[in-house]
Amino acid sequence: MIPDKPPQDNVFHGSEELKKEAHVPSFDKYRELYMKSVDNPDEFWGDVAKDFFWKTKHTGQFLDYNFDVTKGEIYIKCMEGASTNICYNLLDRNVHEKKLADKVAFFWEGNDPGDELTVTYRELLQRVCQFANVLKAQGVKKGDRVSIYMPMVVELVVAMLACVRIGAVHSIVFAGFSAESLCERIVDSQCCLLITADGFYRGDKLINLKLLADEALQKCRDKGFPVGRCIMLKHLSKEPEGIVGSQSPPAKRPCPDLQQEKQAGRVKKTRPVPKVPWNPEVDLCWDALLRGVSDECEPEWCDSEDPLFILYTSGSTGKPKGVLHTVSGYMLYTATTFKVVFDHQPDDVYWCTADIGWITGHSYITYGPLANGATSVLFEGLPTHPDVSRMWEIVDKYNVTKFYTAPTAIRLLMKFGNEPVQRYKRSSLKVLGTVGEPINPEAWQWYYNVVGEKRCPIVDTFWQTETGGHVLTPLPAATPMKPGSATLPFFGVVPAILNESGEELEGPSEGYLVFKQPWPGVMRTVYGSHERFESTYFKKFPGYYVTGDGCRRDKDGYFWVTGRIDDMLNVSGHLLSTAEVESALVEHEAVAEAAVVGRPHPVKGESLYCFVTLNDGVMYNSELEAELKKQVREKIGAIATPDYIQNAPGLPKTRSGKIMRRLLRKIACDERELGDISTLADSTVVEQLFQNRCCTAV
Ligand code: WTA
Repeated sequence: MIPDKPPQDNVFHGSEELKKEAHVPSFDKYRELYMKSVDNPDEFWGDVAKDFFWKTKHTGQFLDYNFDVTKGEIYIKCMEGASTNICYNLLDRNVHEKKLADKVAFFWEGNDPGDELTVTYRELLQRVCQFANVLKAQGVKKGDRVSIYMPMVVELVVAMLACVRIGAVHSIVFAGFSAESLCERIVDSQCCLLITADGFYRGDKLINLKLLADEALQKCRDKGFPVGRCIMLKHLSKEPEGIVGSQSPPAKRPCPDLQQEKQAGRVKKTRPVPKVPWNPEVDLCWDALLRGVSDECEPEWCDSEDPLFILYTSGSTGKPKGVLHTVSGYMLYTATTFKVVFDHQPDDVYWCTADIGWITGHSYITYGPLANGATSVLFEGLPTHPDVSRMWEIVDKYNVTKFYTAPTAIRLLMKFGNEPVQRYKRSSLKVLGTVGEPINPEAWQWYYNVVGEKRCPIVDTFWQTETGGHVLTPLPAATPMKPGSATLPFFGVVPAILNESGEELEGPSEGYLVFKQPWPGVMRTVYGSHERFESTYFKKFPGYYVTGDGCRRDKDGYFWVTGRIDDMLNVSGHLLSTAEVESALVEHEAVAEAAVVGRPHPVKGESLYCFVTLNDGVMYNSELEAELKKQVREKIGAIATPDYIQNAPGLPKTRSGKIMRRLLRKIACDERELGDISTLADSTVVEQLFQNRCCTAV
């Protein structure tokens, strides 16, 4: 299942310093805990649960499930019958029992340097309770769905936890999504209320969020689903209160007209404030609603299997899936993964650069860190604003110890060389993390050598919206690392690799990554369609949860996620991973980023069509093309030799930074029917690529 001994060759180890204090200090300890977690999950997770508050105890089996569609309906239940409230566990328990009232929960760092705010656990609790009372006054009840469409501000956390406090189900929609996408999600989850903000800046670009929210609500009306209430936070026109050092509860602010406020000189930035359309029938002002509202609110006690939140993830059919997570299992799992994978210690300052609008932000900005009483940085801005040193400036400013980001951000920054990193000390850093896609060894090495100065282990965490938390990951002081491998399973997770016929492969092998049994944090259903849940994840290989990812296991038992299975290519009968070819291309010094897709080929089945983005200042020519071909051939083998290489100054990406390979496949095949491109960040990139596509093989 997992190797008896850690691998010895070509591995990197966590520092001795880290091992001294770590929760899991050695491979043997990891192995021992892992075995316990799979042999006796009830006892393992039962021990974890002891640290949390339960209003009533669970009645049935600790973890009860059916993972096999041939035996009936799929279900997963954790601690059924127990009642609790996550908000209580994240805030009240830390403030009252753990004496963390004055500990900083968030250092909020705005888009522009100097725009900052500190929020303690006590303040967060008060603000959440106050807003929970506001929601109750608006008639929001346990089980109701509330849609949240906000920038990365403290109030986003306040809004989500206020829902949780009263047992309402939040459905957060990333603020980079369009009005159309927001509408689709509101209607699908039948939300009774929308919470949004006036607007925000991404770098120098103003996003007038309220306009988009209004457009979405109009679309909802057109579809016959009117949403009665929209609460708007005035983010850009906020008064300069509560800046660093302010420990007082927030003042009950009046809600004057934005333009008046601007004239009165209370608008912090010289940046323009958006004109906000106002519909008195529907719109409510966040600040005005708080006026005179109590900051105490009794939590609603929820059953373990009551819904906690819905988060949409793209589906292969095009219609997004509302992934549903429930209360207790998700709480136990995010708390434990956060504690162990980032080796959380009381004096840590942790920073996850994700947006709360994605699962990484849900699990590892809000739930996991707060459950552990952690201090986090909450960053509104961009890694490149006002310059490409911003991340490292923030690391030094707050003495960040644990840092978690995505390979795409690493590759982006890598393009600018070492100097912008080395301008800052980064001596506080202890653990680095990555998530979202396979990290190519070159980016891994740069992250390790340059950012972490060979001192910080890298936790390459593989997981999905559906898994709730990390499922394959190294533990920083226990698991020897291999660049590009998410290494081994987390506690309670039993991975397997299947071939096309659904047979489990042993030893070194490559195929479908699946899981054989549930862990507490796995999703429970697709909101509104349990059938879709079963057919997407459980029907292809009965008895297993199918991730949709391809995976290789090496001789040491380490897992290497190779990318979505739909990104697997079959070239002359050989399965090839696009990620593998991309990694080989990116290892060339001229290449900043690469994306590879299949293009139908009459003899080989599929051929390799490669898009490469070159580093600044590098010219594309036939010599370079030949070098790249050779590079891939040398790295992987002749069967992986690229058939086409296209110079791509930009790649089509989703707003969360994922390369949209589906569109690249269309470009490779010169198919102009693009389908749904609502998640595409910049559509001009696609047109450019069509214009410059390769017609003859290299
Ligand atoms: C990919 C993000 C390789 C994978 C948390 C998965 C990864 C999808 C990794 C889920 C990793 C995520 N190595 N691939 N460390 N992390 N992925 O739902 O294809 O946005 O299925 O969740 O991202 O994306 P999602």
